[in-house]
Amino acid sequence: MQQLCNRRILLGISGGIAAYKSAELVRLFKRAGADVRVIMTQGAMEFITPLTLQALSGNPVHHALLDSEAEAGMGHIELAKWADVLVIAPASANLLARLAQGMGNDLLTTVCLATEAPLCIAPAMNQAMWRDPMTQANLKRLQDAHGKNLTLVGPNAGEQACGDVGPGRMVEPEQIAQATANLFETGLLAGLHVVLTAGPTREAIDPVRYISNHSSGKMGYALAEAARDAGAKVMLISGPVNLPAPDRIELVPVNSALDMLAASMATLGKCDVFIASAAVADYRVVQAADHKIKKSDDDIHLSLTKNPDIVATVAAHTERPFTVGFAAETQNLEQYARNKLVQKNLDIIVANDVSKSHIGFNSDDNAAKVFWVDGQRQFDVMSKRQLAKQLIKLIAGQINSKNK
Ligand code: PMT
Repeated sequence: MQQLCNRRILLGISGGIAAYKSAELVRLFKRAGADVRVIMTQGAMEFITPLTLQALSGNPVHHALLDSEAEAGMGHIELAKWADVLVIAPASANLLARLAQGMGNDLLTTVCLATEAPLCIAPAMNQAMWRDPMTQANLKRLQDAHGKNLTLVGPNAGEQACGDVGPGRMVEPEQIAQATANLFETGLLAGLHVVLTAGPTREAIDPVRYISNHSSGKMGYALAEAARDAGAKVMLISGPVNLPAPDRIELVPVNSALDMLAASMATLGKCDVFIASAAVADYRVVQAADHKIKKSDDDIHLSLTKNPDIVATVAAHTERPFTVGFAAETQNLEQYARNKLVQKNLDIIVANDVSKSHIGFNSDDNAAKVFWVDGQRQFDVMSKRQLAKQLIKLIAGQINSKNK
């Protein structure tokens, strides 16, 4: 069920004895790496408590449509837009009837009207209610209205809670989770843990001054989002930048190269792919002053010492992940990049020409030459977002060929 990693699943629960199985469904979604939010109808809350689902999903449970407090937090339109998929399990006969009429008389039905996400519905009811021509007509109406956007899972036939035997039992949570997963394509990096470094580092001179560089973090953040969209679990170790925290990505803010090294080393053992796009300061001040250095002499001298090479340290580790480095060069791009590929023991190096203002540092566009031991590829100027997608595709391809 790797397809569910990083997905946003909105689970609607209506009133029926099968509601107790929804707790297990939430657990399965969470185990697959999805972010889960739950909407309950009034009827559902008679069968299972919101607290149980809140504890399992890690998110507050939504149930009120006309509640100013709830609307201020995440209202029905936000919930509808948030969802990558809306799963309704169990879907009672009453809920199917209200959906088929296009009603919006509670939060769940209103969100159903408002969302453009695919719907996955698992009906559950007494066998006679299921067979009733009105229920079947409601179901047909829903299927006609939603077409391929609606997936029906079950119901199963068998012994029912009321003692009847026949169709109407909700299918098991595993089957609903699998049907939900099947709605998504498998990502190129599904199931992998990707760690990226991005942005500049700041090396303190005194409490108010530092040495740094022009990196904006745009390239690294775009790569983190592309890795997430390819299904990876992503951690972004970022120097100080003016970019919003990306969605569904674990952000670890750092300042100096030493902080970045510590955060990177802490991921080894659970990191499958390490992408070093940060512009790490090569040197730091030997002893940063405790207080602001006062202006007195005409010249001052700073003593600098070399920072550890983060990507080389990661690549030399016994628990070495697939390691990708970047090279920012103003001349001899290919030669310097190839040297770094070998010296830092990298699997891939992405070379950037930073001598031009429209690509490289702090621009929205970039171009790159990518080298690996027995191949190379050139990417002409495009947006950093587009380039990030292409690079993630290339990295995934190289990981696959290495694993063959
Ligand atoms: O952030 P943007 O404004 O979007 O710009 C993107 C970028 C141009 C900064 C980016 O695409 C890029 O090229 N990053 C690497 C910059 C760099 O520091 O290159 P380098 O040639 O000095 O370092 C080579 C590699 O070693 C890099 O992967 C770097 O992260 C790593 N390194 C360097 C020094 C060090 N002490 N530790 C490291 O891990």
